[in-house]
Amino acid sequence: MPNIVITGAQWGDEGKGKIVDLLAARVQVVARYNGGHNAGHTVILGEEKFVLHLIPSGILHPGVLCVMGNGMVIDPWALETEVAELGKRGIEVDDNLVISDRAHLILPHHRLLEQLSEQARGTRKIGTTNRGIGPAYEDKAGRRGLRTCDLLRPAALRAKLEEARRNFELVCRGAGHEPELDWSALARELAAFGERLGPRIQDAAAVLHRTMARGYSVLFEGAQAALLDVDHGTYPFVTSSSATAGGVATGLGVPPTRIDAILGIAKAYTTRVGAGPLPSEIGGSLEDEIRKRGAEYGASTGRPRRCGWFDAVVTRYATRINGFDSIALTKLDVLDPLAEIKVCVGYRHDGRVIEDFPADLAVAEECEPVYESLPGWTRPTTGLRDWTDLPDAAKGYVTRLAEHVGCEIGIVSTSPDRDDTILRRDSAVAAWFA
Ligand code: IMP
Repeated sequence: MPNIVITGAQWGDEGKGKIVDLLAARVQVVARYNGGHNAGHTVILGEEKFVLHLIPSGILHPGVLCVMGNGMVIDPWALETEVAELGKRGIEVDDNLVISDRAHLILPHHRLLEQLSEQARGTRKIGTTNRGIGPAYEDKAGRRGLRTCDLLRPAALRAKLEEARRNFELVCRGAGHEPELDWSALARELAAFGERLGPRIQDAAAVLHRTMARGYSVLFEGAQAALLDVDHGTYPFVTSSSATAGGVATGLGVPPTRIDAILGIAKAYTTRVGAGPLPSEIGGSLEDEIRKRGAEYGASTGRPRRCGWFDAVVTRYATRINGFDSIALTKLDVLDPLAEIKVCVGYRHDGRVIEDFPADLAVAEECEPVYESLPGWTRPTTGLRDWTDLPDAAKGYVTRLAEHVGCEIGIVSTSPDRDDTILRRDSAVAAWFA
């Protein structure tokens, strides 16, 4: 199996967990390169549902090594909770998990800073997951962050916390808020984490290079998605990490030359949580129906997701900046009852049609979607596993999306179940499975 990146082609929640799980059976290592516990990767195994936030989805496969990369931000409390919950359900997390010694920590003051920042934005709130993600990346870029390697040297920890504290208190006082945090207790708690997590905190890039030198295959698991990427997404309504395939190089210390293939994950329609433009938003009772059929509620926060038609402008843009070799299209069956399905193929702005996603959100907000209308199939496709079993209109829909996006659709998912997946025989993906 080649070294494959799996990454979101829209605004997240495309169903990356299921596809990572599907491919994880064929690799030796699964490595995450960005984000933190803002992610919620859902995997259904028979009657059981697992939602992974921090730990790579490969953990559900015995014998697979899971790596949390330096590009991630790790809340040690959330990590221990996730490990304990998996343990209760019989999933052993032991030396099958390596944590990069260069990953930054999310600490309690990050959540407080996030609340202050969201409050101050008023109506221009980002609608974050409130997990402290943004402020942890701010401390990283501001060169006052704490990293997991700091947990291993308690004597130096206090001085490093002072840097973070100084900035925190400046911001709090500026906002007229009295900073209240017991930094001494925090230092003690962090030292205790160091003792417990110590053996797992390693030079993850070196571990990955060693495993690749042995000929092992690695799956790079992206969190969030192209349109939430801090550089390429709908800024400022983005997360604070590099969610595109390029994030693998910086977020794991794996050079681009070691990436063999890139698989984009896109839903058969579009969703987003939080604020920001969603040009193909459906609205009204049809949006409610799709939300209900697709169970479109945040896996991390439970928030209802906004639903839109498939936006080919968005996924074409994601294809370009990621260099997808193939796309896995998920949740096709959610569209089963619809007699007519729309696809957004361009945006009308100032009397002309634009086909590329604009940088300026004011432009994106003014855009009117240009739709192509396709016939629905009005027959159940849930659970179908072979392309030839799909109704002609469903095949036509998938084929048309691929044409608009400019990339093959090699996988079609027809239910959350691992096995309810169509693998196109003539696709790039089929060659990876061979
Ligand atoms: P943050 O990552 O918590 O800072 O949130 C920034 C934006 O990214 C918000 O609109 C969130 O709803 C969105 N976001 C973050 N993580 C995810 C995810 O895993 N799925 C979908 N949206 C996400």
